[in-house]
Amino acid sequence: MLFGNQDVLAGGCDSPVRSGWAVGGAPFVQTRGEGPYAYDESGTRYIDYIMAYGPLLFGHTHPALLGNLDELAVGGVVWGSTHPEEVRLAQRVRTHLPSMERLRFVTSGTEAVMSAIRVARAYTQRPLILKFAGNYHGHFDLALLDAGASAHTADAARSGIPAGVTADVAVARYNDLASVDELLHGRERDLAAIIVEPIVGNMGYVTPVAHFLEGLRERADTHGALLIFDEVITWLRFGLRGAQGRAGVTPDLTAIGKIMGGGFPIAAFGGRADVMRVLAPEGGTFTGGTHAGNPFCVAMAHRVLDLVEAHPEYYPYMEMLGTRLADGIASIFARRDLPYAVVAHESIVDFKFRPGPPARNYDDARAADRQKYAAYYHAMRSHKILLPPSQNEVMFVSTAHTVDDIDDTLEAMERSLDVIGD
Ligand SMILES: Cc1ncc(COP(=O)(O)O)c(C=O)c1O
Repeated sequence: MLFGNQDVLAGGCDSPVRSGWAVGGAPFVQTRGEGPYAYDESGTRYIDYIMAYGPLLFGHTHPALLGNLDELAVGGVVWGSTHPEEVRLAQRVRTHLPSMERLRFVTSGTEAVMSAIRVARAYTQRPLILKFAGNYHGHFDLALLDAGASAHTADAARSGIPAGVTADVAVARYNDLASVDELLHGRERDLAAIIVEPIVGNMGYVTPVAHFLEGLRERADTHGALLIFDEVITWLRFGLRGAQGRAGVTPDLTAIGKIMGGGFPIAAFGGRADVMRVLAPEGGTFTGGTHAGNPFCVAMAHRVLDLVEAHPEYYPYMEMLGTRLADGIASIFARRDLPYAVVAHESIVDFKFRPGPPARNYDDARAADRQKYAAYYHAMRSHKILLPPSQNEVMFVSTAHTVDDIDDTLEAMERSLDVIGD
């Protein structure tokens, strides 16, 4: 099947989910975004719940972020020297995430997690990484094994990931400490780190069951390994203290990204000062980047923090919208006698075409009816609602969405279910 312009753009896209392969049909081609809306080539307006897969907590065009952008560029946008504003940004991040005693800026979530893992291996002098099926940590080699989101590496031979990498990764079931113990049995002394999304947004929305994160913390400690939280989605989505603030479990290292740049590419990794000391020039472990900590993206990240700090009311507003959407979907299902669970957590809303309670792991999430989601996606699109073109993704509500947007979405859902059938 052809996606978009494959003649020049490989696969017709820069990130496979955008090709629409998981739902079939023509990909959505966007020409503009404004507030909570996406516009296609004909100028038609859609209520957007993709929100760039997370970064757009404030919608597409918040004036406090995108106003006077040239002010941020008067002194140049990338310098190749260290500067005071990156230090100030690091201090601000640490104020909100005290576990990040030392940190370093990079340009993407992928780089942030990849770097945290290298630091963990260097610090522990061990090779093994334990990760979870259905979590997504970016597109570097080891992260892709049984990853969620739209990463598919089932065919290892064709994936470009060498067997040498696979040998040092164990993939456990989320929310299943027994599977962690089973995989680690006999390899405890090889374990460098456990990496986890403390709240998962990449196999649909999945929350940790009671004691799961505590159990990972205990195991990391017992085996002399580190615990890494991937908060690339969750930091700022769940407030200034992120998922770690909510969970009450402190990781050794954390990766953050997405929302922090207000739509521009900046991310960070960091954690315990004694661990981060392995990084050059203090230690022997290298990470770096031409655009890392560039003054333009750093200034944008300051704008994001200014906005979040000045507007505590944004979170309850998004929660009100998310609850209205989730309750509305749940009552549509109830009226139609459909056995699907709706999960909502503040600005994230999700459901699967799968009977029973909410998914707890990737086996559950994979059991959902993909064809039905594809039909639903296209029916909603015909009613000008833009959902993520993959059931592994979630709906993101932003500060720009309105009650009317939510009500229009619910009306479109009724009409879509009428067409696709129950
Ligand atoms: C939890 C998580 N970690 C890491 C990444 C990778 O971030 P990026 O796409 O900025 O490389 C993503 C991207 O979706 C993510 O959701």
